[in-house]
Amino acid sequence: MTDNIEKTIIHLNNVTKKFVSHDVEITALQDIELKIQQGEYVAINGPSGCGKSTLLSLMGLLDTPTSGQYLIHGVNTRELSGDQQAELRNLHLGFVFQSFNLIDELSVYDNVALPLTYRDQALSKQEIKDRVVRALSQVGMEHRIAHKPNQLSGGQQQRIAIARALAGEPSILLVDEPTGNLDSKNGDAVMDILSQLNAQGTTICMVTHDPRYASHAKRQIALLDGKIVTTQPSFQSPEPIAAVYS
Ligand SMILES: Nc1ncnc2c1ncn2[C@@H]1O[C@H](COP(=O)(O)OP(=O)(O)OP(=O)(O)O)[C@@H](O)[C@H]1O
Ligand SMILES: [Mg+2]
Repeated sequence: MTDNIEKTIIHLNNVTKKFVSHDVEITALQDIELKIQQGEYVAINGPSGCGKSTLLSLMGLLDTPTSGQYLIHGVNTRELSGDQQAELRNLHLGFVFQSFNLIDELSVYDNVALPLTYRDQALSKQEIKDRVVRALSQVGMEHRIAHKPNQLSGGQQQRIAIARALAGEPSILLVDEPTGNLDSKNGDAVMDILSQLNAQGTTICMVTHDPRYASHAKRQIALLDGKIVTTQPSFQSPEPIAAVYS
């Protein structure tokens, strides 16, 4: 992993995002400069409405900047067609959202396998099976492979959603408020899984408005009114986190 630590996966270069609705212009993000290297665990935190999800949507190629450049592995995404962007998204980006977005009618296995069947390069049935089993064991859920999502706790469902993202073997996991629908016990369990995944080499960018959970990341970026106000390396003690908000 140390060999790759300098490898830049994500580079937002002077990115601004504006929305216009009902003739009112909202600057959701302004002049964002951000690089994420392979192996990092970055938390983006800040109060409601400060632009966290907008930032993650841009990183996930779910939306485009109003101005500025967004590069993934050095590729300027603005120069790509819709199909090429979709391919880049499939190959490099894994998503985990606050709502688990699992399909209740499908087994855990089929939920995790489903996105793999839509990929451009066809994977064989055996490759899909290997990936699903590997991803489920990474989140400690291989023993629930035949269950349906509604037979699982919220925390377990979120772990399945993480496995679904991991099965695509993404360069980076983009995670938006992963504990928002969970009680603190299940929330803590999901945060432990993310920390373990990062320790095993998975690159993570997690959005949270909870400073306690942000402290799990190795780098914290605080957003306020669409701007990066502080960037902190890892803390040895949890106390300074509160200072970001004081
Ligand atoms: N599609 C949209 N159209 C218009 N305005 C939008 C749109 N999406 C987001 N915004 C505005 O952009 C700003 C940032 O929103 P965003 O969802 O990124 O905030 P957030 O930090 O994720 O908040 P929360 O913690 O509540 O999830 C807000 O003022 C929001 O109203
Ligand atoms: Mg949000």
